[in-house]
Amino acid sequence: MACPPSPPRKSRGSHVSAPDYNGFLEHIGKVKDQFLKKLEHEKATVFLVTHHDADGISAGAILSMALRRQSIPFQARVVKQISAKYIGDIAAAGSREGKALSAEETADQKFFVFTDFGSGQLEFLSRNLRRDRVLIIDHHEIEDVKEKAILSEMLHVNPWLFGINGSSEISGAGVAYLFARAMDPENQALASLAIAGALGDMQDKGDKTSLAGMNRIIVDDAKNLGLVSEAVDIRLFGRYSRPIHLALSFTTDPFIPGLSGDEAACATFVQRLKIPMTHTGEKPRTVSDLTKEEKSQLVSALIEWSLKHGMTANVIKNLLGTIYTLENEDPSTNLKDLREFASVLNSCGRLGFGGIGLAIAMGDRKEIFVEGQHVISEYRKRIANYMDWVLTTGAIKKRDGLQVLDGGTYIDDAMIGTIVSMLLTSRHVSTDTPVIGWAYIKDDPEGVKISARAVQDLVFKGLNLGVAIRDVLKETDIDSPGGGHAPAAGVEIPKGKLDKFLKALGRKVAGQLQPGDAAGQQPKRTQSWI
Ligand code: C5P
Ligand code: C5P
Ligand code: ZN
Repeated sequence: MACPPSPPRKSRGSHVSAPDYNGFLEHIGKVKDQFLKKLEHEKATVFLVTHHDADGISAGAILSMALRRQSIPFQARVVKQISAKYIGDIAAAGSREGKALSAEETADQKFFVFTDFGSGQLEFLSRNLRRDRVLIIDHHEIEDVKEKAILSEMLHVNPWLFGINGSSEISGAGVAYLFARAMDPENQALASLAIAGALGDMQDKGDKTSLAGMNRIIVDDAKNLGLVSEAVDIRLFGRYSRPIHLALSFTTDPFIPGLSGDEAACATFVQRLKIPMTHTGEKPRTVSDLTKEEKSQLVSALIEWSLKHGMTANVIKNLLGTIYTLENEDPSTNLKDLREFASVLNSCGRLGFGGIGLAIAMGDRKEIFVEGQHVISEYRKRIANYMDWVLTTGAIKKRDGLQVLDGGTYIDDAMIGTIVSMLLTSRHVSTDTPVIGWAYIKDDPEGVKISARAVQDLVFKGLNLGVAIRDVLKETDIDSPGGGHAPAAGVEIPKGKLDKFLKALGRKVAGQLQPGDAAGQQPKRTQSWI
């Protein structure tokens, strides 16, 4: 039986002890042994369920390849969130020798592995699935369960159990990678996917937008094997794959007013600098083709432009940062830069094509890769439309001490989180209070999706959106598995409860941010917090 240690934290969201890296690695080794033993003993098929963003898809791809290497039969599925609907579908799917099975029977045939979610939904999972048939590989904050037996009855790998910050130091794909590496050292070849996951989850908060904390173990593995290089450079989107002006127009982190999304303006901008946009022979030049002098000319001009267009120095400095490059990837794909790689996976997952994302992450560069290109261009169009709509219609309102984006029926529920993140990174909203976006859920007429985001400074002041959402759900009697990280969290709730929920959330957030307030649960800066 898996016996994880009790979380070494006095209260949710706070650090009280030094991170125990070795303890975590040892725990991963033990859980891996228990997992393999159970599979051998029970002959169940692995049903791998993973989250639909870049981190989740990377985690799913890592585990899929690790299982394949061991010849363990499995099925993989990418889903939006763990919810009654998805778990019901998953538990009921399947048949034995062509004969349909009942949900209970089917669940008995399966061993469920959840990657990049699960730790925040422990009670929900324990109510809906056999506890001894579950492995959770996650980095989200852990639900404070009433029935402590749940923690020992399910196999559970999570850095928070060892005082390691899962929001900033290691992603879901990172934990999946450490698990896969414990299964077989050959799986070190998957380290680059774990870097894509961490970048997708915006864990690049180290010096000069580098990955820090436990992610360093993974970056070092990838560098030692010659899979990935790490260098400080100009951070435009499409540095290997797109003409310079398009890379500029595609850059949305940071969002540069007047340039992001505007190809014509970007072409004029580059032409004015007299930087040649083509090689001799008309082949377009890319950002990676620029000389050192041209790059510094471009950076200076961008800084000047950004200052004129109201961006703060803090955001502008992110134009320069650490680049993670896949050494063996063809430069003509949009996968060589691992931030772009993450964005391809994210686009696939959020538009409902998780299977395409999974195949690309697992190495497909043929038909499925081409399909993925259509998905990403559709995704970009949608983002541009949504941003335009948000910025021109005044859809963001101040209420209850929060900034609330009413996405209504206009913004897709799977993309509301991305839009809220983008509004914050581009500083189109104030950073003083969290931003909460909501949108109606496409396949549930009664539900709304809520995505909450805040800057790291508020987290240092005591804000924890994951905890706030879970507390508010209890307070408002909403039975839905929600939560997440201190700076980024989400939930799905009945639409009739939206107003009550936002009011309660506003109060909870104000409480957390009150200086010296017990609810504030000030997270201490450990060496891993940058
Ligand atoms: O479920 P998961 O942990 O993979 O998702 C984290 C989500 O939160 C990602 O979509 C990521 O972009 C977002 N995030 C954010 N700001 C942070 C950290 C994460 O918007 N500081
Ligand atoms: O969905 P969204 O991008 O807003 O998610 C932000 C963070 O909150 C992610 O880490 C996600 O896994 C988490 N989340 C959660 N439970 C939900 C919805 C989101 O734990 N029901
Ligand atoms: Zn994640």
